[in-house]
Amino acid sequence: MINRLQQLEKDALAEINSAVTEEHFLNIKTKYLGRKGLLTGLLRNIAQVPDDEKPMFGKLCNELKNALTVKIDEAVQQYARRNKEELLAKQKIDVTLPGSSIKCGRVHPVLQIRREICSFFSSFGFSIVEGPEIELDYYNFEALNIPKDHPARDMQDTFWTEDGNLLRTHTSCMQIRAMQRMKPPMRLIAPGRVFRYEATDASHENTFYQMEGLMIDRNISVSNLIHFMKTLLREIFKRDVKIRLRPGYFPFVEPGFELDINCLICGGSGCPVCKQSGWVELLPCGLVHPNVLKNVGIDPSEFTGFAFGLGLNRLVMMRYGIDDIRHFLSGDVRFVEQF
Ligand code: PHE
Repeated sequence: MINRLQQLEKDALAEINSAVTEEHFLNIKTKYLGRKGLLTGLLRNIAQVPDDEKPMFGKLCNELKNALTVKIDEAVQQYARRNKEELLAKQKIDVTLPGSSIKCGRVHPVLQIRREICSFFSSFGFSIVEGPEIELDYYNFEALNIPKDHPARDMQDTFWTEDGNLLRTHTSCMQIRAMQRMKPPMRLIAPGRVFRYEATDASHENTFYQMEGLMIDRNISVSNLIHFMKTLLREIFKRDVKIRLRPGYFPFVEPGFELDINCLICGGSGCPVCKQSGWVELLPCGLVHPNVLKNVGIDPSEFTGFAFGLGLNRLVMMRYGIDDIRHFLSGDVRFVEQF
């Protein structure tokens, strides 16, 4: 019996040493030390041991039982520790590796210039107003001194909706909306998207951005207008820009002007953007027509004002030397990423 005990010890140790998973260890424990285990079985057969050897045999059995229990428990712990270390090693992060870069959006150059101009005019006390892109005939034409049969309606190629409304063809509608709401004196700008039903080319788009400006007060004259425009252009282009003022016809201003700037793309020698003229129409403007003031209940003998309609796309084109207005809505990120 003692021999069997020694053999059992050898077998158990060999199995413990070759075990590699937690499950193996638990199986070994059950196999030798469990209630139906081999060691327990030997102890149960103690009757077969000669009487004088019984105490010795019992002692050896118990010692072996304790020793195996400790061994297996230790092995299990060691196994768990090794496992954890391996896991940690696998999870280790090399913080010196370069991160994957996040693709970041850009501010579109039109929005950028819009923000700049807004902050310029804000500093002069102009408020910023916005209005609908789908407009009533009244605001886009009628109240601006452009009645139904007026030939000036031909200048504006209009997208009409089925119910007789339209996509605003300019931000001038905001002059009326603002004057209906506020009382003079007032100064405001109204940036926004406008639409024209027309064939596109390097300098024409069906969708573009304007910023309307309006200042109503006592004794406003053309010189106030010119002063503001020159200061604004200097601010935007960071230098003095050559301008010229031509008479221009818009039913809602009198007198009306076209303010042109020297083409900054070709420097005045002629290119597709300036239609070979060396000048670019940048800023239609004028003094608000007395009829328009009357339409919103302002007395033209007391108040006068100026209005202008800045073309934001054209301004950006001049500033960055962009030669085709169609880039703006092309959706090509390579274009926007340059700014
Ligand atoms: N609304 C006019 C246009 O888009 C421009 C304009 C605005 C002219 C203000 C004069 C005064 O064509």
